[in-house]
Amino acid sequence: MALDKAILDRHASRWFTPTPVPAVALREALALASHAPSNSNIQPWRLFVVTGSALDRLKDELVTASSAGVAPAIPPLPPAFQHFRSELGQQVYGEGWGVARGDAEGRRAAVLRNFEFFGAPVGVLACIDRSLTKADVVSLGMYLQTFLLALTERGIGSCVEVSVAGYPEVISRSLEPWVHIPAELEIVAGIAVGYEDKSLHINHIRAGRVSIEDTVTFVQ
Ligand SMILES: Cc1cc2nc3c(=O)[nH]c(=O)nc-3n(C[C@H](O)[C@H](O)[C@H](O)COP(=O)(O)O)c2cc1C
Repeated sequence: MALDKAILDRHASRWFTPTPVPAVALREALALASHAPSNSNIQPWRLFVVTGSALDRLKDELVTASSAGVAPAIPPLPPAFQHFRSELGQQVYGEGWGVARGDAEGRRAAVLRNFEFFGAPVGVLACIDRSLTKADVVSLGMYLQTFLLALTERGIGSCVEVSVAGYPEVISRSLEPWVHIPAELEIVAGIAVGYEDKSLHINHIRAGRVSIEDTVTFVQ
């Protein structure tokens, strides 16, 4: 039952309080996540957990790049899937952030919050070796969901962010004074981690799900 509750409680938190996340809780969640299954047990997940002045600098540089109109390198969604993004966008920006339709400036400001890691005190970069393939990205995904559930159980919120991964050069350059991200690693996603600000409506919206009949075929 505890697992069911963690699965249902986890959601994308899109603004955080500045309260630091205890290092011990982070380490516990990372250690639990490492029990995720992986192809040939290669454990392909490679993470950078960024806090403090390194995170401040990373946020600044990402916001600067996005504000300057540099488009993030994120492949477009195929047409058949685009309606999901429109529906989610309406929910997040319209309902969640209260941005009126046609308010381009309000929408731009809301999008920029992605690059501030939504105010989170911890920014995680989830990476994988470029030479690996789809099965290994599956393994990374299993690891990340386990990580998020372990955080949820500890009362810690999160938001996976492909948006952040759209600026790999900016990330590498801005972290260079602290850490060198090896060229063979691909940054698959960022993850904002922290205590969600429950006073904001954005953190109370819940994205819907299609029914299992739409995604699963039972063959008997
Ligand atoms: C790989 C991946 C990338 C995502 N990228 C972003 C992002 O860049 N910005 C954002 O606000 N949410 C992002 N999300 C969160 C999704 O929008 C969210 O998981 C989805 O709408 C379902 O909502 P829920 O997580 O609240 O259940 C991402 C989620 C995943 C798994």
